[in-house]
This record gives sequence, structure tokens and C-alpha cells, in this order.
Amino acid sequence: MIADLGQHEIETALRGRFGRPLEFHESIDSTNGRALEWVGEGAPDGALVVADHQTAGRGRWGRSWLSKPGSGLLFSIVLRRDVVAPGRLTSALGVGVARGIEDVTGLEATLKWPDDVQLGARKVAGILVEALSGSEGPAVIAGVGINHDWRGEVPEEIADRATSIRDAIDVVSGDLIPTRTELLVSVLYEIEQVLERGHTVMEEARSRSSVLGRYVRIRLASGTSVQGEATALGDDGALKLVTDSGTIDVLAGEVERLLPG
Ligand code: BTN
Repeated sequence: MIADLGQHEIETALRGRFGRPLEFHESIDSTNGRALEWVGEGAPDGALVVADHQTAGRGRWGRSWLSKPGSGLLFSIVLRRDVVAPGRLTSALGVGVARGIEDVTGLEATLKWPDDVQLGARKVAGILVEALSGSEGPAVIAGVGINHDWRGEVPEEIADRATSIRDAIDVVSGDLIPTRTELLVSVLYEIEQVLERGHTVMEEARSRSSVLGRYVRIRLASGTSVQGEATALGDDGALKLVTDSGTIDVLAGEVERLLPG
């Protein structure tokens, strides 16, 4: 029995179109994996897979996304659309997740390019976008993992750079923490708003950015790194970097370090 999350709890709390139909799993390998499979079975736009626990949660760059049963909010939304600029979609999803967290916690959430949502300077949520095009037409899976409540058992390998909703609230105010259902419904609603009506979403992504104006080192898919000042975020989600050898647009990568200066 999972107190704060389940098929019925979610269905009765939903505020928008996203989340119907819904599949809830107590345990599954990966909600993204299941959503991709569901697309092949005809899942419509807005279909949602939620799990209490993942046995093979996927992170970006082939990493794992680990979370103990009951400690995270783990879900994937099916988006039946062709995505022209994946970087823009990732930014839009980041804005939706940040807004959704703020709505139920009152805390200010920022975005660390390209897909980390932060409270303070610590990562609280990550987003994994996976696209596919099959006989069913184009589709994208938006997978979101939010650290909800570690109950004092902070995962050692990320203790210095990550936080959970409970930890962040305890530090600031000690207020009651939202349930995972409340958090899910809020984040889903905001993602839907941003994707359907978010004309100014990139402006919001810029104003929430914890990277713009900073000197950063970015690891690229090739394994090499570039460093320079992050001066702009394009409408396609690319980060403009002024380096010693010129200005470049970085479409995909990972901020390894924020450098002093
Ligand atoms: C990142 O590396 O920051 C992205 C992590 C995304 C994790 C979520 S948890 C729900 C969904 N299912 C997965 O297997 N991964 C995403």
C-alpha cells in the first residue's frame, strides 16, 4: 500500500487533459521504457505512466536514475508530436517542472541548462526526452524524475549536489511537504500549460537560468569539453558560449562546472 500515490489518487486529483489515460505501477523497469512501448500500442497524446519505484530508471547520457521505493516522483508523458527543436522542448519541460514545484512548495526553482531543475544550487529534478518515429507517427516521451522525500537517507553519490523536496522545505521553512500526488498534478498541469500556451516559454527559461552570465565548462557528447561565458539561450534551446577561440552554440551537453569569474 502506497499512501500518497496510486491510480485512484491521481485520477481523482488531475486538473487538466494530461494524465488520461493513466498507468500506475508499484514497480517497473522504467516509466520511459513503458511509455515508449505504449506508443506502439496506440497511447494517445497526454497518456501518462507513473511508478512508485523503478528497477532500471534511465538518466541522461546512459546513466541510471536511482530512487528508493516511495522516495521519488517518477513519470513519463506521451507527446504525440513531431519535435523540431528538442532543446526547446527540454527547456519548456524544465519551465513546467519548475513552475509546478513552486506552486506547491512556495520555493523558487531555477534551471541549470539543459534539463536540471534546482532548488538552491542543488538538483531536485531531471528530465529525459526520448523520441521515436514508427508506423504510429512521431512521438516523444517526456520522462521526469523528482526527488521527493529521502527520509534522511541521502544517496551518498549525489549528496553534495542534489536535494529533495522535503530537504529543501525543511531547510527554508519546515512547512508541510506536498504529497507526490499533489506534486504530480501541479507539475503535469504546468507542463500542459507551457506546451499548449507557452509563447513566452524561452523568456521564462532565460530568466530562470542559473547558468546564463556564468563561466562554465560543458562536456559534449564526443567526450571533449568546451569552456567560456554562457551569454545567451537561443529559441532552439542552444546555449551560446563565448570561448577563447570564438563564439559557439552548444545544442547538447552537460554543465560540468560553474567556473569562478
Ligand atoms: C537526468 O539524467 O537528469 C534525467 C533523469 C530522468 C529520470 C526520469 S524518472 C522517470 C522517467 N523514467 C526513466 O527511466 N527516466 C525518467
